[in-house]
Amino acid sequence: MDDNQNWYLNAIFYQVYVRAFCDSNGDGQGDLQGLISKLDYIQSLGVDCIWLMPIYPSPLRDDGYDISNFTDVLREYGTLEDFKALINGAHSRGLRIVTDLVLNHTSDQHPWFQASRSDRASTFRDYYVWSDSDQKYPDARIIFIDTQKSNWSWDEKAGQYFWHRFYPTQPDLNYENPAVRTEILRVMRFWLDLGIDGFRADAIPYLYEREGTNCENLPETHTFLKQVRAFLDKYYPGRILLGEANQWPEDVRPYFADGNELHMNFHFPLMPRLYLALHEQDAAPLKWVFERTPSIPKNCQWCTFLRNHDELTLEMVTDEERDTLWRAYAPDPRMRLNLGIRRRLAPLMGNDPRRIRMLNALLYSLPGTPILYYGDEIGMGDNIELPDRNGVRTPMQWDETRRSGFSTAKPDQFYSPLIDTAPFDFRSVNVVAQDNDPDSLLNFMRMLISQRKAHPELASGTLEWVETENPGVVAFTRRWEGKGIFTIFNLGDTSRGARIPRELRTEPRLDLLNSYLRIVPDSTNLNLKPFQFGWFNL
Ligand code: NOJ
Repeated sequence: MDDNQNWYLNAIFYQVYVRAFCDSNGDGQGDLQGLISKLDYIQSLGVDCIWLMPIYPSPLRDDGYDISNFTDVLREYGTLEDFKALINGAHSRGLRIVTDLVLNHTSDQHPWFQASRSDRASTFRDYYVWSDSDQKYPDARIIFIDTQKSNWSWDEKAGQYFWHRFYPTQPDLNYENPAVRTEILRVMRFWLDLGIDGFRADAIPYLYEREGTNCENLPETHTFLKQVRAFLDKYYPGRILLGEANQWPEDVRPYFADGNELHMNFHFPLMPRLYLALHEQDAAPLKWVFERTPSIPKNCQWCTFLRNHDELTLEMVTDEERDTLWRAYAPDPRMRLNLGIRRRLAPLMGNDPRRIRMLNALLYSLPGTPILYYGDEIGMGDNIELPDRNGVRTPMQWDETRRSGFSTAKPDQFYSPLIDTAPFDFRSVNVVAQDNDPDSLLNFMRMLISQRKAHPELASGTLEWVETENPGVVAFTRRWEGKGIFTIFNLGDTSRGARIPRELRTEPRLDLLNSYLRIVPDSTNLNLKPFQFGWFNL
């Protein structure tokens, strides 16, 4: 592994749900050995870092975001020895690994909660947030609005209400208690000592509660996270914290602080605006969100994404925009969940390869470090018959055999059904088929990733919009340390001409993304086919 401590500034992440990825022992559930057997594949994508969703012991009421033991591996996934082998296997291929750190809450099955609820005198009582009343903190919103009525639940055994921002099976930890803060640092140390490269810090806005506030982004939270960062910098330099704060950019900005809090944060508000821009064939939503995005310290980076394991959240849009997006991308009510859309990228794009490629290319052209959700590199589909977010967490489609190369178990023993109906059927959408096809989405993504990595100006450079005199064609330049790229996208389904800047007209230029687009000297216009796009060196 190289020792570049700033590795995350120009990187690509690949998000893996272990249960869905590859099953090595035939029990129908993916596991760490299965993942190890696919490291060559992940390396072949050209990504830098794997983000592992929770791998810890858990009753799986929220797919592992309900942890019952912070310092072990879920039996179905393997052992700590397997985990060490995974770290070694990844590092020897130049791949880093970050794991989910679910620090806001535990499972109700965690021994801390069991002790806490059973005995008021227990030292663990104060590990959670208890109250005689369920009326405290009335300004805290409910996140899982489709299923939850309150952030409080009554616990018979405890004789009190406990506080939870997510499911009642996920009681919130009490960060006012210094013992809780110490425990979390201990947990971090445990995984860092095993060699991981950082954490995706889950649900960070909600660590503390305070009356009279919405209980999000409180100053106490920032104080604690700065302590965590100081601990990392002192003992584990180069290991990172990536924050999950689904908030407006001005509320996320403080999580970067002066470069002394989190290294990275997801850019939630950008994501729905990529879909909106495409739907409206207009760059306005993108311009708006970047105008609202404050600059960040040099040692910090945004994480950007099109999709992940959750619903495509529409919290960071106006009510009107949400309705537009729901109507455009989730016409069937079953496609909606909470304030979002529970579908994968390819179905959202109507399985149109031109739109799938263009939206990816647009994401990879914009500032930040992109994350690719497993399966989206081959355009996997989803299953809206499955409840909650399960429909976007189906088994990885490796090949066209009866079990899709995911497992040797009988398909009816799989943790989740395979997608087996057209057009996303595993027999047609799979890694092997696409590996062998130079024009496949998979090979396009590999090319896009390698071009992106070769152009660090795309990660951290300036962003300047270019007037194309055609609102449906978005263009901008990205410049950094003497390098520069001009990028252009036809968001519409008709051919369009676009004016190109004078500085491009001096010499012939070929698109870096292997389309047939070329700039001919002295031409003032570039003609783009429907959904065509390109990158040109400046
Ligand atoms: C955010 C995670 O992405 C989501 O999957 C989970 O349900 C909640 N946090 C609670 O941990």
